[in-house]
Amino acid sequence: MDYSKLKLPNHVAIIVDGNGRWATEKGMSRSDGHNEGFLNLKKLSAYIFSKNIKYLSAYLFSTENFKRSKQEVSFLMNLLTGKLKEILDFCHEEQIKAVFSGRKENLSNSVLKAMEKIEKETNIYKDKVFNICFNYGGHAEIVDAVKKIVKDVENSKLDIDKLDENTFSKYLYNDLPPVDLMIRTSGEQRLSNFMLWQNSYAEFYFPKTYFPDFNADEFDKAIIEYTKRDRRYGGIDYEKKNN
Ligand code: IPE
Ligand code: IPE
Ligand code: MG
Repeated sequence: MDYSKLKLPNHVAIIVDGNGRWATEKGMSRSDGHNEGFLNLKKLSAYIFSKNIKYLSAYLFSTENFKRSKQEVSFLMNLLTGKLKEILDFCHEEQIKAVFSGRKENLSNSVLKAMEKIEKETNIYKDKVFNICFNYGGHAEIVDAVKKIVKDVENSKLDIDKLDENTFSKYLYNDLPPVDLMIRTSGEQRLSNFMLWQNSYAEFYFPKTYFPDFNADEFDKAIIEYTKRDRRYGGIDYEKKNN
């Protein structure tokens, strides 16, 4: 689809959902679904960035996903760990800056090191930013920001009277613009603790498609829907209303 004349979102966020159901309905294992989801994420993110959308966030593992079976948690951990080199190569190929959002606890030292290496090496790219949310929770992010703020206030690095929304947002895991379009695949209509601060004025889109099948054509449909939305941010466009 030709995107050149469309008013595009600056920041798209995707809750990757439905990998398990995609696989189960095909008689495959949930792990197969996660593998397929990863493959699709690579293809889809390359497509999205090729359309001049600058920021993409993807929710891959939540702080609550530790409630799943030991077997599934370790599969998901190993999947990301095993793909870190591939993610680095992909980011170089596509000239994408990768950043990670989430708690560092419960992640092994080797994973943390690989994440740091990816962030450091891809920091040279400025036009495309891929925010990978892993061991991420929106409540955790806000609590962690508050802890950093309190420390800075105690060390006289921050004047509490000067704390406003803009300064607060700089204490979140990454300094990102607000989400414009939030997509959750698989038909579920909830945030499940995803980017609570950044999604405050996002347009929500809930396709029924499971994530492994959410391809370029499906994304085009999301963009068409987005262009039809009237974003008011609490105000009223009086001129438009009277005409
Ligand atoms: C999304 O797929 C991936 C993660 C949440 C890690 P799910 O694993 O949630 O798949 P469903 O929702 O059970 O189908
Ligand atoms: C949300 O999906 C978390 C991620 C996509 C990483 P879940 O499948 O875990 O969410 P719930 O349990 O259906 O709310
Ligand atoms: Mg799910």
